Amino acid sequence: MLQKAIARLSACNQTHLIDHLNALAPEAQAALAEQIAELDFSVLEAENAGGTRGCFAPLYATTLAEIAQNRERFTAAGLEAIRAGKVGAVMLAGGQGTRLGFDKPKGTFNVGLTHELYIFECLIRNLLDVAQAAGVPVPLFIMTSIDNYGDTRAFFEAHDYFGYDRNFVWFYQQEQLPATDTEGRLLLAAPDRIATAPNGNGGWYASMEKAGMRSVLREKGIEWLNVFAMDNVLQRIADPCFVGAVIESGMTSGAKVVAKAAPEEKVGVLCLEDGRPSIVEYYEMTEEMRTRREPDGKLSYNYGVILNYLFRVDKLDETLQVPLPLHRAFKKLNYMDKTGAVISPEKPNAYKYETLALDMVKLQSDCLAYEVDRFREFAPIKNKSGVDSVDTARELLRRNGVLL
Ligand code: UTP
Repeated sequence: MLQKAIARLSACNQTHLIDHLNALAPEAQAALAEQIAELDFSVLEAENAGGTRGCFAPLYATTLAEIAQNRERFTAAGLEAIRAGKVGAVMLAGGQGTRLGFDKPKGTFNVGLTHELYIFECLIRNLLDVAQAAGVPVPLFIMTSIDNYGDTRAFFEAHDYFGYDRNFVWFYQQEQLPATDTEGRLLLAAPDRIATAPNGNGGWYASMEKAGMRSVLREKGIEWLNVFAMDNVLQRIADPCFVGAVIESGMTSGAKVVAKAAPEEKVGVLCLEDGRPSIVEYYEMTEEMRTRREPDGKLSYNYGVILNYLFRVDKLDETLQVPLPLHRAFKKLNYMDKTGAVISPEKPNAYKYETLALDMVKLQSDCLAYEVDRFREFAPIKNKSGVDSVDTARELLRRNGVLL
């Protein structure tokens, strides 16, 4: 085992760990060697995604006005599908929330001021509205990281699932990938452990399959999955109108989008890439793309994604084996330095490697861009202060009549 681990480290240009490995006591040495044998080191060779992109074109969106005109019909169709048990929801809760700098699962953060109101609670309340309208609970799958699994489950238990039917909630874990420093070297988290981080939100369906959740989907007859980020406290989950609109469109996926506040807003925009639905990141857009307008005056690349997608399960199955591109994100990561001290850095210090849920859109043949009002449905909590922070989310919750 030790020799194999040394050979693997050499093959991957990670020789800086060999002396450390050799110097360890037998038990710690065995633990580290075992981890080295098991970890997916493909990230060490991976090119950062996004290098070569295809030909972009604008994608038409179903606008707020069009949705308002058809609201009743879409909602009825969505409720019918939900009642028939065909719609499930997947909460992406495996992130580390490093920007917020909260050391527990982000969903357990209290946004309340005069009373307790947790991020998870906001989401469950929104889902309860749908369950009530449909007369049945929506099956909810919660993806956590390995690290926050126990705390997340315990939190739901301690709060009695915020009134949701616990028989309709499943937790599962995503995988980890090694992280590296700026030189591409693996970091240690402890003497006997290489530092790893959750592998991004793009692996949510593959992890569902590994965790045996597809049998639940089959048993329950779930045909659609609404996957969403847990850090948007106004996220409307399994929104019947959205579900109905996507089903009626005949498309195999849908994405909730918001009109950009300004051409330079830093959001990924839903568009076409080589004729397929795709998301172009703000930093990938040329000046021409950013400012181009349609005859009606709207930006051509106008609709930003909010990490709320609806996918058809049979189509997800078809794409299970297709590898997603790996993205490198520069973030804060605790690590052990040469003296053996564990450092919690103040600033980003390491690259984490992630696949992204937005890359799954490109694997679909089509995607309904469904516009929502950002002031009603988009209040992400990413940062401690400033843009997309606890303060901005509180303000938006207030505007929507939520008592803080
Ligand atoms: P973010 O991209 O904001 O990442 O996640 P993050 O890790 O939560 O936060 P920072 O960047 O460190 O501050 C968007 C959504 O995807 C989930 C998050 O929980 C959030 O709902 N996510 C992210 C996962 O489920 N797994 C991951 O590996 C990463």
